[in-house]
Amino acid sequence: MHLTHPDITKTLVTAEQIRERIAELALEIDQAYQGKDILLIGVLKGAVPFMADLSRAMQIPTKQDWMAVSSYGSGTISSGVVRILKDLDTDVKDRNVLIVEDIIDSGLTLSWLTANLKAREAKSVEIVTLLRKPDAAKVAIDVRWVGFDIPNEFVVGYGLDFNENYRSLDGVGVLSPSVYS
Ligand code: IMP
Ligand code: MG
Repeated sequence: MHLTHPDITKTLVTAEQIRERIAELALEIDQAYQGKDILLIGVLKGAVPFMADLSRAMQIPTKQDWMAVSSYGSGTISSGVVRILKDLDTDVKDRNVLIVEDIIDSGLTLSWLTANLKAREAKSVEIVTLLRKPDAAKVAIDVRWVGFDIPNEFVVGYGLDFNENYRSLDGVGVLSPSVYS
C-alpha cells in the first residue's frame, strides 16, 4: 500500500530509499559473513518486510528464525519490560547470529535480546536495524548496521504498526498524533 495516506503527516523514508539502502546493507553483510554460516533472527512482527527484503538482497545463503518479544503494550511508549512471546525454534549455540530489527527506540528491547542470545552461547551476535531513533544512544548497545537514523517521532509503515495498523505501507512515515491522542 502506498505511503500516501490521510493519517501520515510526513514521509520519512520512501519505498525506493528503503530498496537502495537495503542493497547497500546486503553487500556489507555479505562481505562480513563471507564463508561463515549465518542465522538471521527476525523480531516479529515489525521486521517481517525488512527480513524478507534484506535476505533476498543478500547473496550468501542464510538460515532464518523468528522471535516475538514485547516491550510495548498498545501505547507508544516503551515499558522497559521485555517478555518472550515466541521463542526461537533453533539452538543458537556456536552460531553466528544477526538480529534483524525494524527500529531501535529506547534500545531496551535489543540490549535485552542481545544479552539473552549471548547467554545461549551464540558464537557472535550482531544487529542490523532498518531505523534508529536518537534515544537509542542512551543505552549501550552495539549496533553494527543501521539503515536510517530518524527523528524522535512515532512512525509507522514497512512493518511498523500502531495497534496493528499501517504495517503494509510501503515506506515509513510519521503518524498523525490525532490517531493516538
Ligand atoms: P525499544 O525497546 O524502545 O528500542 O523499542 C523497540 C520496539 O518498539 C521496536 O521493535 C518496535 O516494535 C517498537 N517501536 C519503537 N518505536 C516505534 C515507532 O515509532 N513506531 C512503531 N513501533 C515502534
Ligand atoms: Mg520490533
